[in-house]
Parts: sequence; C-alpha cells; structure tokens
Amino acid sequence: PRLAGRALKRVAFSEAQIAARVAELGREITAFYPDDDLLVLGLLKGSFIFLSDLVRQIARPLHVDFLVASSYGDATVSSGTVRLLYDPETELEGKHILLVEDIVDSGRTLQKLVELLGDRRPKSLEICALLHKHIATHLDHPVRFVGFDAPEEFLVGYGLDHAEHFRHVPYVASLQ
Ligand code: PRP
Ligand code: MN
Ligand code: MG
Repeated sequence: PRLAGRALKRVAFSEAQIAARVAELGREITAFYPDDDLLVLGLLKGSFIFLSDLVRQIARPLHVDFLVASSYGDATVSSGTVRLLYDPETELEGKHILLVEDIVDSGRTLQKLVELLGDRRPKSLEICALLHKHIATHLDHPVRFVGFDAPEEFLVGYGLDHAEHFRHVPYVASLQ
C-alpha cells in the first residue's frame, strides 16, 4: 500500500501473527493477576488498537482508562521530551495497574510514565508492550508482557504511526 507518498517496505508482523500472540498475552495476563481490582491503562494514541484487542482476550474483571502522551510528533526520532496530554481521572492508589504500550523503542516514554505512575502508589505496576526493540538499557522497570521482539526499523500500523499516518493499517510494517 502507498499512503501519503510513502511506501510500506515489508510486513513485519501479519494480522494472523498478531491475533495469535494477543490471545496468548490475554491468557498470560488472566493467569497472572489474583485479585479483582485490575486497571488496564492504555497509552494513547499508539496503543488504541492493541488495547482493544487485548482486553477482549482477558477473562477476568477489569477497568479500562487511558493516558495520553507524546514524544515523537511528526519525527522518526524521539524528541526526548514526553508530554502528558491527558491524565486518568481514575484513582490509581491501591490498584493493580497494567500499562499497555504499542512499542518500547528508546524507552523514554516508559521510563517517564513508570516514574509518574509509581508516585500514585498503585498496588502493582506492570507493563505490557506489543513490540519491544530491546535497545533501552536504562529501564528501571522490566516489561513483563512482551508481544514480539521488534526489529530496529521504524514500524507503523496496528496503532503505530508516522506523522499520524498508517495507524489504521491492520498489520505492523516497516517504513521504507
Ligand atoms: C510512540 C509509541 C510509544 C513511544 C515509544 O508514541 O507509541 O508510546 O513512542 O518510543 P520510546 O520508547 O522511544 O519513548 P508517540 O510519542 O509517537 O505518540 P503516539 O502514541 O501518539 O504515536
Ligand atoms: Mn505512544
Ligand atoms: Mg507516534
């Protein structure tokens, strides 16, 4: 497909691969949490498709809320500044929080959010990321649930954008 004048180079993870892995993650997460006060916190915008597929694979009571943060803007390199544009109204203290990310790239976004959410005294804080590039070496907090180890390419689709394009592409592809 050719959108906005930029071609997608290759499919990195197909719809079928993603669906199978998301179902597995759902089973892992279902088994992981003992209590019933789970808050799944999706980081917008990138996680919106992953989160909506993932929660339907989690067979236990949960609540859903969102955070909005942005660091890339229109660039393919992180600006280094993570801006929080929306803060959840839900009380986080005493809750099991599962933060859902589409991709861990430099790790800056996650680092910032873990600090921020840790201050709200949740009962537990775990991260679930569909994609992990494993280039972030300074993360204080391990990413407990990872969908796929990602190649070091700029990836788009399934929620991931380049300058807001390609989020609706149903698979994950690399940009040319
Ligand atoms: C992207 C992506 C992750 C983050 C990962 O978000 O969705 O949240 O960058 O990069 P990092 O590990 O280098 O911090 P972006 O800032 O592009 O906002 P978006 O989710 O609205 O696309
Ligand atoms: Mn994001
Ligand atoms: Mg983005």
